[in-house]
Amino acid sequence: MSGSGILLDVKGLRVSFSTPRGKVRAVSDASFSVRRGEVTGIVGESGSGKSVSAYAVLGLLAGNGRVEAGSAVFCGRDLLALGEKELRSVRGNEISMVFQDPMTALDPLFTVGSFLTEVLRSHSPQTGRKEAWKKSVEMLSVMGIRDPEDVMRRCPDSLSGGMCQRVMIAAALLCDPQLLIADEPTTALDVTIQEEILSLIQKLKEERGMSVLFITHDLGVVARLCDRVSVMYGGFVMESCSVDQVYSGAVHPYTKALLSAIPRLDDRGEEPLAALEGEPIDPVHLPEGCVFAPRCRYCFEDCLKTRPETFDLGDGHSAACHLLKKGGKADV
Ligand SMILES: Nc1ncnc2c1ncn2[C@@H]1O[C@H](COP(=O)(O)OP(=O)(O)O)[C@@H](O)[C@H]1O
Ligand SMILES: [Mg+2]
Repeated sequence: MSGSGILLDVKGLRVSFSTPRGKVRAVSDASFSVRRGEVTGIVGESGSGKSVSAYAVLGLLAGNGRVEAGSAVFCGRDLLALGEKELRSVRGNEISMVFQDPMTALDPLFTVGSFLTEVLRSHSPQTGRKEAWKKSVEMLSVMGIRDPEDVMRRCPDSLSGGMCQRVMIAAALLCDPQLLIADEPTTALDVTIQEEILSLIQKLKEERGMSVLFITHDLGVVARLCDRVSVMYGGFVMESCSVDQVYSGAVHPYTKALLSAIPRLDDRGEEPLAALEGEPIDPVHLPEGCVFAPRCRYCFEDCLKTRPETFDLGDGHSAACHLLKKGGKADV
């Protein structure tokens, strides 16, 4: 699956945290990729290892965290093998990240203008103050902000959550990154603002050819925005495919359970939420077999004994489920 079209290729990522409770296996086997000009979604419920995967790739893990295995090739370099200094340069210039809560990411003491011009000047120190101001104003306009000069003079506490998130996305794009990683950027915002931010990211993709890794717990959001999706559960990627495939031919019982949880206008109420009953796994005590087995209504003997391998279903579609062993698609 390698090729010039792939901008970020993460393979076999394994990340753990040492804690007083024991070793937390946050990510056990995650592989996903982002192609140039496309949006890849990582979807899964809370605690499935989405954020940790992104943080690991950028070298931003907490002090008790460790990458145990895997590679994350970005423009020919394995990010997991880079030193801190090189990684910092990648983060400032080539990959930008936007986080869930824009309010906490902005310093309340600084105006938007001083924040943005500082971001720009630390990225390209030769930029003069006036020019940095002008470029920041322009970027705020690109974000759909109607009175950017006014917003530049304000402090974050006088702005709405949606406005703060636009400012954060503007900051992320000021250094013209090749890849934007957005970790649940709309989760803390109310529904109408969510919609606006999603439209904004859609526009950035279409007009600027932005490549985006978009993390969300909401498969409905994936449908709106993404070209491809990797579904995570318990630190494993369960299924990866195009967005069309996820709706027309998802094979993993967990993906199907997520799909059935999306409210739809044409909902005929056929698939109940039964597969999502039960507790998420405890990452300190991973089950021996498939991590989803304890909640899977199709679980059989093998599922409790061994981890399923990832089956290549062709056409960029893969899934890790014992039901696929007999070849073809499982009838789930
Ligand atoms: N610094 C940490 N120390 C211990 N456990 C952590 C730490 N950060 C994350 N985890 C654990 O790793 C798992 C995956 O977390 P995360 O990637 O944040 O999930 P999500 O899919 O909701 O983004 C969770 O069980 C979480 O509790
Ligand atoms: Mg998260």
